[in-house]
Amino acid sequence: MNVKLSNGKVIPVEMHKVRIVQKVNLVPVRRRLEAIKEAGYNTFLLRTKDIFLDMLTDSGTNAMSDNQLAAMMVADDAYAGSESFYKLVDAEKEILGFNYVIPVHQGRAAEHLLAKVFVKPGDVVLMNYHFTTTKAHFELAGAKVLELYTDEMLNTQSSVLFKGNLDLQKFEDAIKKYGADKIPFVRMEATTNLVGGQPFALRNLHDVKKLASKHNIPVVFDGSLISENAYFIKMREEGYADKSIREIILEMMSLVDIFYLSGRKSTSVRGGLMATNKKEYYDRILEWLPVYEGFATYGGMSTKEIEAMAVGFREMTDVNVAGSAPEFIKYFVERLIENGVPVVTPPGGLACHLDAKRFVSHLPQSQYPAGALAGAVYIASGIRSMERGTISMDRDSAGNEVYADLELARLAVPRRVYTMSQIEYAVDRITWLYKHRDLVKGLKFVEEPRVLRFFFGRLEALDNWGADLTKAFEAEFGPNC
Ligand code: F0G
Repeated sequence: MNVKLSNGKVIPVEMHKVRIVQKVNLVPVRRRLEAIKEAGYNTFLLRTKDIFLDMLTDSGTNAMSDNQLAAMMVADDAYAGSESFYKLVDAEKEILGFNYVIPVHQGRAAEHLLAKVFVKPGDVVLMNYHFTTTKAHFELAGAKVLELYTDEMLNTQSSVLFKGNLDLQKFEDAIKKYGADKIPFVRMEATTNLVGGQPFALRNLHDVKKLASKHNIPVVFDGSLISENAYFIKMREEGYADKSIREIILEMMSLVDIFYLSGRKSTSVRGGLMATNKKEYYDRILEWLPVYEGFATYGGMSTKEIEAMAVGFREMTDVNVAGSAPEFIKYFVERLIENGVPVVTPPGGLACHLDAKRFVSHLPQSQYPAGALAGAVYIASGIRSMERGTISMDRDSAGNEVYADLELARLAVPRRVYTMSQIEYAVDRITWLYKHRDLVKGLKFVEEPRVLRFFFGRLEALDNWGADLTKAFEAEFGPNC
């Protein structure tokens, strides 16, 4: 919730209190340099013991509530027919409104099943924008992924409030070009992850549904960040200010044929789910569930997480829960803008995104500016961010680099985890880094996996620039910071 202070400044205040904590370490800058080298300049390969603020992701790292933890204690561990599952079915029906529920172990498992059941070689899967695992699954099934984003989506200095909208003209053109029978579905991703956590408008979803229905194309909704997208609709879209998050979610869901989510985000648990009102879809997906995930009443999730997900579905509709990360992110982004640091605007859900193309504008994309920036942020602060740029794209089938549309270093703000002083620390160290950005040079691969290379790939700093950055940092803050 935002409060206005007596000096006129508006700040987000936490609508929760901290009752269990985890100790964190801030290791000295020399150790950070060693750690990032050991990790091959890949922040995925760092260890928690070397990390101060873990802003890699909000996936599975949001703080759970007391009620979620309490629910985990009464889980029914039956392999089949677990009562925990039926609690999840009730919560899903109440919040999303679908009759059929399929639990899966996490979001990409849902994508795998979608690909398995609906996607054939030669198909074209349409979407507002891809996510890494989404693209991988549909391409592995032999389809082409076509992104129908508006030109504004890739503008990192924008004031357009719904950059996640799907471009309807491009949708119509794609139907004409490929034919509706080659399009298994159109996928809308809530709070579009890879372009800076940018939402789409409900108006846009209505329009997408209308056009899709005309051609019998099912609408698939990736709701991993559904509560955040609903929060942005409430805050930004005309006509929704007085609607509750719950009402907005139900209106969105009335336009959807197949819903799936990574429960690791909006519902603050480690799991996933698919849901639909079409018995035919349910039957076709269910057939494969025991092969890849598990029986129909657990689908690869622990029953404890299933219990917590049921609670999480209801809690995510509390406006203070849905808005918790977006308001902290807005504060984070606005403080960096005040200091002249290039970030993605408007602020989205999920993370504060540094715009590496502008931050380290001297680096060509062939030297992975977003990856270099993520490494530099870690050296300067002990904060772990995530590369969301060319390293997160795999090479094409001929082995050529595929340059990402955007080069971002993503500082995720997991829900209810970090405090205002930690955000202030992040702002300060990133600002310092921006003033010393000339010291940051590029990276080159020394070990490069073929699929989703960003997870395990190892890189090296060109000209050993990490050492120069470390020296400059020590000169200003001393060896112990
Ligand atoms: N869809 C979206 C929009 C996501 O953000 C993610 C995961 C997935 C699908 C896959 O779900 O991880 O549960 O298998 N995003 C994480 C992130 C990994 O860090 O942004 P998953």
